[in-house]
Amino acid sequence: MINKTLGIIGGTGWLGGAIARAVLAKGLVPAGNLIISNRSGNHPLAEQGARLVTDNQGLVDRSDVVIIAVRPEHFASLGIDATGKIVISLMAGITAQMIAAQTSASAIVRAMPNAAVEIGQSFTPWYCSAGVGTATKNLVQRVFECVGAAAEVQQEDFIDYLSALSGTGPAFPALLMTALARQAMLAGIPGDIAQMAAKNVVVNSSQLLANRDPQQMIDALVAYRGVTAAALQVMSQGDFEEQVGRALQAGAAVARKGLQA
Ligand SMILES: NC(=O)c1ccc[n+]([C@@H]2O[C@H](COP(=O)([O-])OP(=O)(O)OC[C@H]3O[C@@H](n4cnc5c(N)ncnc54)[C@H](OP(=O)(O)O)[C@@H]3O)[C@@H](O)[C@H]2O)c1
Repeated sequence: MINKTLGIIGGTGWLGGAIARAVLAKGLVPAGNLIISNRSGNHPLAEQGARLVTDNQGLVDRSDVVIIAVRPEHFASLGIDATGKIVISLMAGITAQMIAAQTSASAIVRAMPNAAVEIGQSFTPWYCSAGVGTATKNLVQRVFECVGAAAEVQQEDFIDYLSALSGTGPAFPALLMTALARQAMLAGIPGDIAQMAAKNVVVNSSQLLANRDPQQMIDALVAYRGVTAAALQVMSQGDFEEQVGRALQAGAAVARKGLQA
């Protein structure tokens, strides 16, 4: 448990709400030390003991650590003064410099969780601006370990790149699952069977990779020189990896350009 008050602006949204629930469930902060805000002023989280407010400046004033979990286009209108506070931003495409300019916070951290915060399975890379001390770094790591794995990165640009990679969470698997199911149906496999087969590949069979090296897995399966080898060979001849690279660069370019309204 940490002896700090944590405020989450946008603490009832997808990411903010999941982090709020997780820090309470893991006992990182007691409910009395958690303040969340939104514009609408109501949410079931308030029934779990967290204070729900609509006054963002009031939240900042009462918090030691402020997580900004609103969408990037809502950041400019927050108008908060966080002088002397630690601010952790989850917003894609908003630089540490912009956050410093608009909030006057003394310590700024940019973190990029993904939608799997909801099931405690996010990977959250985070970057902190110069001058952030070890105690604050430990605290940031502990907050994000409540919703999965987390690691500090040394360059802010890595956050923009990783926004397009781990930040997209289930997006790439969803695309693969959809493609597998559609192609199977086009080949005449009944829809329900196609969906079950595609789901098994993406959601269930992939669990084998949790503790195995993926390249070794590919090599082992290709070594059979059978069905899997033929399928994977077509994928790699078809520019698959370069296409993945272009997709990641396209997403990163949007993050680098900035998403502020
Ligand atoms: N979702 C993802 O997979 C993902 C991945 C990586 C990073 N991110 C980043 O995480 C941030 C949050 O995304 P999300 O998907 O969690 O968004 P979301 O579900 O739309 O949540 C945004 C929250 O902000 C609240 N809000 C909006 N304006 C506010 C204001 N002026 N004051 C206080 N609260 C306000 C909203 O509640 P009211 O409408 O009631 O005000 C809502 O609870 C974004 O900046 C995004 O770039 C998201």
